[in-house]
Amino acid sequence: MLLAASTQRTIGFVILAIVFIGGLVYLFFNIRAAKAEVGSEIELAPNRSPALLDEDLEGRRLDIALLANLVMLTIIALALPFYWLGEPGRAEGRNIDTARIFTNRGEELYVEGAQCVNCHGAAGAGGAVTTAITDDAGGFVAQVVWKAPALNTVLSRFSEDEILHTLNFGRNGVMPAWGAGGGGPLTNQQLEEILFYLRSIQIDAATIASEVESGVIERVEDMLVAESDADYAVAIREAEAAQLDATLPVEELDLDCSDPTDAENSLCVDLAAANDALLAARDAGREQLGADAAEWIADAQAVAETARMIAIDDDPSLADAERDDDLRWAALELLATPGAVANQETYLRYGEFLFTNPAAEGTYSCARCHTYGFSFDGAERFTIRANGTTESILPDGYNQGGGFFGPNLTGGSTLDQFGTARSHALFIETGQTIGQPYGRGGSGGNGQMPGFAARTESNTVGPGIANDLETDYPALLNSDQIDAIVAFERNL
Ligand code: HEC
Ligand code: HEC
Repeated sequence: MLLAASTQRTIGFVILAIVFIGGLVYLFFNIRAAKAEVGSEIELAPNRSPALLDEDLEGRRLDIALLANLVMLTIIALALPFYWLGEPGRAEGRNIDTARIFTNRGEELYVEGAQCVNCHGAAGAGGAVTTAITDDAGGFVAQVVWKAPALNTVLSRFSEDEILHTLNFGRNGVMPAWGAGGGGPLTNQQLEEILFYLRSIQIDAATIASEVESGVIERVEDMLVAESDADYAVAIREAEAAQLDATLPVEELDLDCSDPTDAENSLCVDLAAANDALLAARDAGREQLGADAAEWIADAQAVAETARMIAIDDDPSLADAERDDDLRWAALELLATPGAVANQETYLRYGEFLFTNPAAEGTYSCARCHTYGFSFDGAERFTIRANGTTESILPDGYNQGGGFFGPNLTGGSTLDQFGTARSHALFIETGQTIGQPYGRGGSGGNGQMPGFAARTESNTVGPGIANDLETDYPALLNSDQIDAIVAFERNL
């Protein structure tokens, strides 16, 4: 077992064995070959001067020196193999040390040196940055709060090379360029150190799944509050309207109700009462709202089940467990085809809620890259516009999937790009890879379309990393969720 541990270790043991056995063999033959000293029997010839006696030459000092040499030789002969034995451990220890040092330095850069933490949040949980929106001519439009995605899942969606691209060149003017390639202040080694740190903060599959789910629930609850006829929803809507009515005059007079002097103003008193009433209405409806949202989501997911049943009706061989994938693709084609499945509207809307998932600062959403304004809530009310008004930057709302950093997905463009719902879904699962074309006309970019299925990193960056190292990162979305998004996109 130990012998098989590693080549270095095996070689170490072999050398040790050779030295040991060789020593014994030498001792054995040496003793056997011992005989009287050569020449001791011959009389001294007359032309030879008497040599120095052995007793004169071989004094105590020589004995000590020889003994010392023997001891040293033995030590070296024994120590060398022992040194070899420890070599793999030493190499491993050095790599662990390097990883620890790089991770610590990466954390230092994340928190202090480059202050990623200010925008991306503690331990990469996601955050935001206040920035200015300008028009095409560079004129100031508004001050907005732009969401910065969570980085504790970034290795699930991008390869390390793709992350390095973003770190080098930044994105959209809001994510600064850090690497020398983009004119930034950090060295390549510092970028590698940041990657070591990012590896250390990735969260597990269960946490990801619950974050994604909580984001969908939030969207469904917003929809129910806005649209449901249930008493609690009507009550919350009324309380929201009353709160808005109380907010506008306060904004108009620029009152700061958190300031003790302003707080006494009757407008602030009204607003405080409206806030309390809204909280109370939400509290009263919370339980029913949660139950209704869960029911709505179950209904939406049941549509996919219906599609599978229709597909099996059409082709009974799809019921075979071995044809799971074929069944998925047949059902997905139906789910994406207008009018092919009952209650399809609900299913497509479920896809939309995944597309606009608000969890973790929109990290899991598609809208942050494919819908202009999504990352800074452009369709919400804003107070800080150039002309001081409170209208939103996108008064007509979002053009969902209309394109921004990623291409426009509307008007059937995804049907043109991907001939089948299957190839569309497979693209969402893997994303775009640096330099690789996709679909019918997608040319190879810089890998900036993330992959949403589980991925394996096999090109890990940095020193002390074994060539064959492979690291698995969990999926951001499961196949049912990806299918719902694909159906939604194919109907945009
Ligand atoms: C000034 C704020 C700010 C700072 C500082 C900042 N970022 Fe960003 N970063 C952003 C924003 C905003 C985005 C999203 C841009 C967008 O919406 O297109 C982003 C995007 C990213 C992405 C792409 C992630 C994805 O899923 O799309 C990575 C990776 C990233 N940042 C890493 C870092 C690292 C590492 C640092 C520190 C060296 C850093 N950022 C510092 C604001 C910032
Ligand atoms: C970090 C930004 C980003 C996010 C998040 C993102 N995409 Fe993309 N997406 C891109 C980019 C960039 C491209 C173009 C890639 C290229 O040209 O190489 C793209 C391309 C696409 C395409 C191909 C469009 C075409 O016509 O060529 C589809 C479909 C798509 N994305 C769907 C999605 C879906 C679905 C999600 C969410 C599950 C999503 N994207 C999330 C950036 C993003």
